[in-house]
Amino acid sequence: MTDTFPSVPDGPHLRTIAMPRDTNAAGAVFGGWTVSQMDLAGGTFDAQRTNGRVATVRIDAMRFFRPFALGDEVSCDCTLQESGETSLGVRIGAWIRDRTGSNPDKVTEGVFTYVALDDEGKPRRRTDDRASET
Ligand SMILES: CC(C)(COP(=O)(O)OP(=O)(O)OC[C@H]1O[C@@H](n2cnc3c(N)ncnc32)[C@H](O)[C@@H]1OP(=O)(O)O)[C@@H](O)C(=O)NCCC(=O)NCCS
Repeated sequence: MTDTFPSVPDGPHLRTIAMPRDTNAAGAVFGGWTVSQMDLAGGTFDAQRTNGRVATVRIDAMRFFRPFALGDEVSCDCTLQESGETSLGVRIGAWIRDRTGSNPDKVTEGVFTYVALDDEGKPRRRTDDRASET
């Protein structure tokens, strides 16, 4: 049988919908929920690049530009910013679109640092193709 599943483009790295449990009493989406979606996106992005498990060790420069609402579609995009022996820094943006699909608007941005871990939870040298270049 031919594999007809379309190839996935490199991003967005996570896409989801804000649901009622994700909102505060004023009806806006919790900032903490948005940060956790960004962290999931960045962890997946880095796990793919380092070929294994990663842990978040730092979040910098978080900025919340505007509130957004229940039902909005949230997409996270990841861009590699810096890399070390075992760590990667990723700039992550969260973008929203309303349910009718109008233009995306960036709502949040931050820089997340992840460390590649071995099976014992200790830092491990990255084994990705880019490790020798970056
Ligand atoms: C990840 C962890 C095992 C690293 O252990 P550690 O003793 O800090 O490791 P090291 O000091 O050898 O540093 C390893 C790398 O992490 C980087 N690092 C560690 N803490 C950092 C921080 N707060 N900010 C930026 N980089 C950090 C170091 O610069 C080093 O990078 P490099 O190898 O690319 O030069 C440990 O910090 C940890 O378990 N933290 C908790 C992670 C966690 O629970 N996250 C939430 C759930 S995912």
